[in-house]
Amino acid sequence: MEEARGEGQENIKNGTIKKLAILTGGGDCPGLNAVIRAAVKTACYRGIEVIGIQDGFRGAVEGDFRTLGLKDVSGILPRGGTILGTTNRDNPFAYPTLVEGTLQIQDRSEEVLGRFKAEGIDALIAIGGDGSLSIALEFAKKGLNVVGVPKTIDNDLMATDLTFGFQTAVATAQDALDRLHTTAESHHRIMILEVMGRYAGWIALYAGVAGGADVILIPEVPYQLESIAKAVKRRADQGKHFSIIVVAEGAKPFGGEMVVERTMQGRTDPIKLGGIGAKLAAELEVLTAMETRVTVLGHLQRGGSPIAVDRVLSTRYGVAAVEAALDKDYGMMVALQGQVIVRVPIEEAVHQLKKVVTDDPVLLAARSMGIELGD
Ligand code: F6P
Repeated sequence: MEEARGEGQENIKNGTIKKLAILTGGGDCPGLNAVIRAAVKTACYRGIEVIGIQDGFRGAVEGDFRTLGLKDVSGILPRGGTILGTTNRDNPFAYPTLVEGTLQIQDRSEEVLGRFKAEGIDALIAIGGDGSLSIALEFAKKGLNVVGVPKTIDNDLMATDLTFGFQTAVATAQDALDRLHTTAESHHRIMILEVMGRYAGWIALYAGVAGGADVILIPEVPYQLESIAKAVKRRADQGKHFSIIVVAEGAKPFGGEMVVERTMQGRTDPIKLGGIGAKLAAELEVLTAMETRVTVLGHLQRGGSPIAVDRVLSTRYGVAAVEAALDKDYGMMVALQGQVIVRVPIEEAVHQLKKVVTDDPVLLAARSMGIELGD
């Protein structure tokens, strides 16, 4: 792993790069526009043309390109979503294609490579999570010059301390917990907040600590219902007749399974999690005889304006991605390690998720202060 040379400095070699393409793939998250803006500004400053690809890899297959200039990125720093659109379907290596009236799954990757060549694109900046960066890696193996930028509210990408969007999602969940506290206290209820995160518990853990939750349930620590009920009763014995529970969508009981809302074929991950909050509420009402309500925070965690720390991180990632392309350091993903932006092989970031480990400092802090983790 190598430190990024010249993050924000003028010591980068601008070889022969003339044209960069940029796309956003997978689920959206706050900060995508901030990355696009930083990349476009950095490129334009050096006289490099930028091509925006619409709707992730779909646009790469269909040739849905547009030039991105300074005017296009003006005012987008605080905007949620992505001006380029995105999708968590449409993998060019297994692309649904209509052939004589029937839908067939075809490998269209060669077409993408041909189109990039014809357009004179020197390198692609792919902003994505595990799914999109895995596709980017396949293209890198076929010779495409790729630089990755780690995106996802889930913070589950390996090789980086933080993905952008995560801290904004945590802030949104923390705000929800603050609000749930007051109504929980008034009504002497158990309030459950179900948050996103897929198979990792980062959002639940950080939001739970930031929002003063009494119980935090994450996929990495399977729970026992009795432990949660005991914690709620313990609080009642201390005169606190309400409890706040934050549960990650991927949390599961000891020896049990995650709750799947539905499976959707054609997506990079066909499994859509959801419903654990309602399941827990029904079970806890029986065990504790306390009224219980559930809030599923859902896509509120993905929408809206990035908070300041995410704007800064996204900006640093956007700048560093262009600098990596200028250095012709391809097949790499920009990443945050400690306080420093580094470049790591995309291969190190994908195929294996970064999960909360048992000695994670935030998890240990939660345990030390008596927050119930359900185990
Ligand atoms: O990966 C980001 C994420 O928001 C997950 O936390 C969640 O499980 C999933 O995407 C939801 O996907 P969709 O956009 O299909 O609802």
